[in-house]
Formats: sequence, C-alpha cells, structure tokens
Amino acid sequence: MTRAQRKRDHINYALTTGQQNKTGFEDIKFVHQSLPDATLDDTRLQSRIGELSLSSPIFVNAMTGGGGEYTSKINAELSLLARETGIGLAVGSQMSALKDPSERKTYEIVRKNNPDGIIFANLGSEASVQQAIDAVEMIEADALQVHLNVIQELTMPEGDRDFKGALERIHTIADRLSVPVIVKETGFGISKEAAMTLSGTSISAIDVGGYGGTNFSKIENQRRQRMLSYFDDWGIPTAASIAEAHSVSGLPILASGGIRNSLEIVKALSLGACSVGMAGAILKCIVDKGLEATIEEVNDLHTDIQYLMCALGCMRTEDLQKVPLILTGELYHWLAVRGLD
Ligand code: FNR
Repeated sequence: MTRAQRKRDHINYALTTGQQNKTGFEDIKFVHQSLPDATLDDTRLQSRIGELSLSSPIFVNAMTGGGGEYTSKINAELSLLARETGIGLAVGSQMSALKDPSERKTYEIVRKNNPDGIIFANLGSEASVQQAIDAVEMIEADALQVHLNVIQELTMPEGDRDFKGALERIHTIADRLSVPVIVKETGFGISKEAAMTLSGTSISAIDVGGYGGTNFSKIENQRRQRMLSYFDDWGIPTAASIAEAHSVSGLPILASGGIRNSLEIVKALSLGACSVGMAGAILKCIVDKGLEATIEEVNDLHTDIQYLMCALGCMRTEDLQKVPLILTGELYHWLAVRGLD
C-alpha cells in the first residue's frame, strides 16, 4: 500500500467508523449565574499559548499529511478556513515531505494561502533536530507540534514498535528550535505522569489530544486482518486529561480530542485549557458541506462561545478558568481515583 493510499484510508475511516462520542464533557455542568457582570459585545475571543497570541481560542488540529492531490486540496481548504475565520492551523505530519520534496507543495500552500496566520508545523517524536528545523522552515511555522501516537503505531500493521528515546529527542528539539514546541497526543490523552515528565523538558505547551473523538485504534483496526480491538476503548477521556495535565505541569494546556461544539470548547477552557483544537469535526464539515459552510460553522462557534462567556460573566477566555463547575458520573469518579477532585 502506498503512503497516499494509507492517508486516504485514514481520512475515510476518520469520517466514518473511527469516531467515538464520550469525552467526559457530558459529565460537566456550569452553575447558572443570575447576575453576570458582562456585556455580550465586550466579550473577547483572544487567547494565548505561551508567547503566541491568537485571535480565537480555536485551532484546526493536525490532519492531512502528504498523500497526493486529495490531501493537498483539503489542506488548501483548511488554510482558507483559517484565514477567513482567524483561527490557528496545524498541518499534518511533514515527514513525508522531508523524505520526498515533491510533497512539499501540499504543505507550502498552507502558508501561501494564509501569510499572516498562526500555523503549526508537525512531526512525530522520531524526528531529528535537523528535520524539526526543516519542517518549521518549510511553512514558516509559528510553533512545532511533536505528536505522540504509540497506540496508533502499535495497531498500524506497518507501524513502529520501538518507542525508546522519544523524551530525549523532544527535549533536544525544544532546546534547539527558535519557535515554541507543543507536544501533542493523537486521541489517547496525556496523563499527569506524562505531563509532569514533559514539564521537565524545554517544551512550551502540551496538547492533551484525549479520548472521545477520532480513534486511531479503530481506524487502524479496519486495516488489519487480526484486530487489536482491546485498544479501541483505551485512553484518557479529553476532559479528564485536561484536568490531569493542568494539575501538574505549569505549562499552557491545549485541549483536543472529540471537541465538536461551542459548549465543549467553553467547558475545555473552564477546565484550564488556553486553546482548543478540533480535527475530525472540521474535516467532516469540510468534506461533507464544503468550505463556505465550514466558515459559517466556525463563525457560529465564535458567536456561541461569546454567548456562553456572557452568561458566565466572563469577558476574556482566560476568565473561564475561574467559573465553578459541577462534575458528575465517570469524570467525577476518574478525577477522584486520580486524586484530582
Ligand atoms: C490526524 N491526527 C494527526 N495528528 C498529528 O499530530 N499528525 C498527523 O499527521 C495527524 N494526522 C491525522 C489525520 C487524520 C485524517 C485525522 C482525523 C487526525 C490527529 C489529530 O490531530 C487529533 O489529535 C485527533 O484526531 C483527535 O482530535 P479529534 O479528531 O477528535 O478532534
């Protein structure tokens, strides 16, 4: 199977069987406030990821890596979406373009279409320092995401089996790069132990990439003869993972994994995230409904986040971290067992 076919399979399965629906956000309620000291028009959507300043708390998370014309078209549309709505955008893994320069244009289009936008480069933790520098240069990226995807690699028939040395490589890359490094999971979540370990390196932020949305075990299992289905229910639900990572790391925490609507975005920000990544939900919207409809959906998300902020008496996205939350069900149980209640 060629790389392009594999990437196309990923997209097709991500849009169908590869989705979950339980992120832990269903176990969070806000406490209604009858006297919010806020005006809708004065609510501000600006957010910060460490030194980076963004005009929205939403970014499109890494998806389409090299894979020919189909992914190239999706990347071009995602970059126009980011430009028109002012949201950040992470490109998919650039390793293919580092190995095969003919694939560079799939990524370069993203910067060409959106010269002033916030764009993240993306590589796996197997990358060398030089590859990290080249990936950032390729798209004049504002930050580099380094993804962790042990469960995907294990379920992928042709995947990696050796995960040693990742932490040292990440640390060296973060030390040597001139832009911030964000370490992200890919749908299985970051534990407080992993967050603590990562906070001992030179990285600038953690994206929890939690369980509950796109499920790479399910996606890769579709491509196997003998399924490793025990990994299908494996992972830290996104809401629990935000709480885990936020409790120990002191680094900015980005929330992602199964985030689909404005209420979930506001809940993620209230749990301590400074920014929220959406991958599968945006991909589905672009593929099913097209660019114009997706621009409208993101604009609606922005409007709805402002309505929710106003109801909660928050003028700035970071004020959401102070609102009281009621946690119930499995999320409450998870956090109690983990000593985070
Ligand atoms: C991804 N994801 C991903 N992540 C990454 O760091 N590098 C990559 O190249 C890819 N490729 C990729 C392809 C496709 C088709 C999808 C749907 C996703 C993972 C993505 O960034 C995110 O972590 C997970 O999808 C979980 O978020 P959602 O989809 O539940 O919002």
